[in-house]
Amino acid sequence: MGEHIIPLHDLRRAPSRPAGPVPAWDGRPPVDRLGRPLRDLRISVTDRCNFRCSYCMPKEVFDKRYNFLPHSALLSFEEITRIARLFVAQGVRKLRLTGGEPLLRKNIETLIGMLAELRTPDGQPLDITLTTNGSVLARKARALKDAGLQRVTVSLDALDDAVFKRMNDVDFPVAEVLRGIEAAQAVGLAPIKVNMVVKRGTNDQEILPMAEHFRHSGIVLRFIEYMDVGATNGWRMDEVLPSAQLLERLQQVHALRPLEAASPGETAERWAYADGSGEIGLISSVTQAFCGDCNRARLSTEGRLFLCLFASAGHDLRALLRDGADDAHISSTIAAIWQQRADRYSELRGVGGAVPGARRVEMHYIGG
Ligand code: GTP
Ligand code: 5AD
Ligand code: SF4
Ligand code: SF4
Repeated sequence: MGEHIIPLHDLRRAPSRPAGPVPAWDGRPPVDRLGRPLRDLRISVTDRCNFRCSYCMPKEVFDKRYNFLPHSALLSFEEITRIARLFVAQGVRKLRLTGGEPLLRKNIETLIGMLAELRTPDGQPLDITLTTNGSVLARKARALKDAGLQRVTVSLDALDDAVFKRMNDVDFPVAEVLRGIEAAQAVGLAPIKVNMVVKRGTNDQEILPMAEHFRHSGIVLRFIEYMDVGATNGWRMDEVLPSAQLLERLQQVHALRPLEAASPGETAERWAYADGSGEIGLISSVTQAFCGDCNRARLSTEGRLFLCLFASAGHDLRALLRDGADDAHISSTIAAIWQQRADRYSELRGVGGAVPGARRVEMHYIGG
């Protein structure tokens, strides 16, 4: 593994502001240069995680010497809520809290309570969800639900303990994550999704057991193609299992039929078991890019706005907040940034492999 690790370029400080003067926002939901609206804001609340998944935070890089962000660098809950409110005014309908591991952020339920009070311009509540590794979910599910969280997505890459422990690289047992998922189910944090990143040769033998386990549960299992995010995971195309091949393997055992997308720009292609035992999703960002309708913006832990998971720099909204900018100015800046957006990394990259020399931010820093 070690010989594939590429040195980490620290891109967290790359400065970036919208080009040119910022015109006043006209109050209409902005669309980007490819005609895509802004619907989904993913908010990273910590860059820390208690796992060291090799595809995300390999131990060799994220060790004791790694400089995680100091507390003063993080956006406060008030700052996050203010930014989220301005995004909602511009068309955002879904908020996802991510990390690192978001449940490691102290008093996260307080933030959820604040976000749950936000309303769309026509008075609707938002879809508020959270991506977690499930490690402390059994303990926190009730408080999260009570605070106003609607649903959770849990990452789980295997049912076999040895395989899972090898992937999380901190010896964390499967049973504890399953307990977290059960707790989330018991308190009604639904619909629950489980995300499995598939690495050929590492956990692809777990595809069928995982499918079997989550059928009949009401939980949607989603298989994710291992992506070339960041610059530390030593990504190689031969470790990607294309979703088409994964589907073939499933179809040898289960009849499946395609479902319509639940909303435009969705990451997952949905399939239903023909016998009515549930639904699965295929997230194929490597072999079938879905940039065409991508309506996702990402806010990093320290308040930088990233327009693509593969972006190399983010726009510093925290500087605006802490310089005392008023809502109108921040809104105008956000609209101008979105209107200049033309990102479509996965489409440009194709299946040939990572774009050479591209410097990209790490996934634990801007969240999935
Ligand atoms: P739902 O609202 O529950 O459907 O969630 P989602 O699929 O929009 O978000 P989630 O964070 O669960 O995404 C699942 C995985 O898809 C992530 O962990 C990433 O691996 C991948 N993914 C999510 N968004 C993007 C994106 O914009 N681009 C690419 N290339 N991959 C993405
Ligand atoms: N490829 C695909 N998905 C990834 N994630 C993190 N790193 C990668 C990668 N290299 C996603 C997984 C995980 C979530 C937190 O981020 O879905 O569940
Ligand atoms: Fe942590 Fe999730 Fe990254 Fe694994 S994938 S290291 S659980 S943030
Ligand atoms: Fe959106 Fe970038 Fe992902 Fe394409 S690669 S879907 S533009 S985040």
